[in-house]
Amino acid sequence: MASLTKAFNIADMRALAGRALPLPIREYLEGGADDEWTLARNRTAFQEWVLAQRTLVDVSAIDPGTDMLGFPSAMPLMLSPTGMSQLFHAAGESAVARAAARAGVPYGLSTMATTSIEAIAATGAKRYFQLYLFRDRGLTRALLERAAANGYGALCLTVDTAIAGNRERDLRSGMIMPPRFSLGSLLSFAAHPRWSMGALKNRSFQLANVIDHVGDLGREGTSVIDYVNAQFDRSATWKDIDWLRAQWPGKLVIKGAIMPGDCAEAVARGADAIMVSNHGGRQLDGAGSPLDYLPAIRDQVHDRAQLIVDGGVRRGTDILKAIALGANGCSIGRPYLYGLAAGGEAGVARVLSIFQTEIERDMGLMGRTRIADITADDVDHLSRFRSKPGEVRG
Ligand code: FNR
Repeated sequence: MASLTKAFNIADMRALAGRALPLPIREYLEGGADDEWTLARNRTAFQEWVLAQRTLVDVSAIDPGTDMLGFPSAMPLMLSPTGMSQLFHAAGESAVARAAARAGVPYGLSTMATTSIEAIAATGAKRYFQLYLFRDRGLTRALLERAAANGYGALCLTVDTAIAGNRERDLRSGMIMPPRFSLGSLLSFAAHPRWSMGALKNRSFQLANVIDHVGDLGREGTSVIDYVNAQFDRSATWKDIDWLRAQWPGKLVIKGAIMPGDCAEAVARGADAIMVSNHGGRQLDGAGSPLDYLPAIRDQVHDRAQLIVDGGVRRGTDILKAIALGANGCSIGRPYLYGLAAGGEAGVARVLSIFQTEIERDMGLMGRTRIADITADDVDHLSRFRSKPGEVRG
């Protein structure tokens, strides 16, 4: 697609996606909870840190490769699980997984995906499966068994969604199942015929992994929010982590812990990695960004678990800042969905290649040639310059 080559960064890709998608779908993609303070905080937190620019270092060979959740990854970046990707492009999760496979980075398949566990396995992507704890433990167990049988290297339990977040953009646009769109939303579908035709032709849209357990999700006026509140187990506690740890022999990832104490508890109970995340600002509005807590989390978990920062990552420099603050790498949600909406698999591939280029270039400009060489010496908080300019280290 010609226009993809004109996307030089993630903001450009976001603009392309905005043009491709009808209003309710765009709002579902972009939206956060309540006043979207946390959504904004995920971005501003990165802007409070400066990177060390070291010169006259031999940067003729730069290697951004690293381990992510036990997978060798071409860069310290992976793809977070997102539900219902066929909403953004009929090629959906399979297109994302194929682009991830080509780029050599791990892909996370959501429980709420519109493509099956088995179909994603066939793409050959380095893959992990994201689980929600359902009240129906039989369903939970069946999902685990399918993920294990289909070569998913890690299981990622999302723990920040016991109750659905308040996404008012979706209420306003009428993004419920089946949809009850406002007049403005309907006009927006008419104004995006390419998307609308793709959606009309796509007969395979369904929650492919929980299809036999969708409960009320076909009933008039039921929203995804209602579904989450009815099906997910809001009584889950740390004991359920112990249960899951006993069920799953592979790598266990906890996604959505953000407080240092919670992260330490998860690691004590056998988690191999934490995706430090506030669900992209879609759950508790007012929660801090992963970056706010990252150094304290690293202090508590030491080297016993990987820490993956998820939320607001839009530039290679964001990833390098997170690594300097204690992360092993970062993960993205919306950015790859922008690529998917703008151009299917090619759009996702373009997003990943933008990140790869930025990471390599910025490592070189920092005078760092390997991810393992990036340390706390590579960042300073802005406040150091404002309060005592004479005391900033060299
Ligand atoms: C999500 N996210 C999400 N997380 C999860 O564990 N399971 C899921 O099914 C979904 N679904 C989902 C749909 C959409 C449209 C979005 C935007 C997000 C959250 C996701 O995994 C990730 O935490 C955030 O997207 C990260 O923030 P950024 O990169 O979007 O800023």
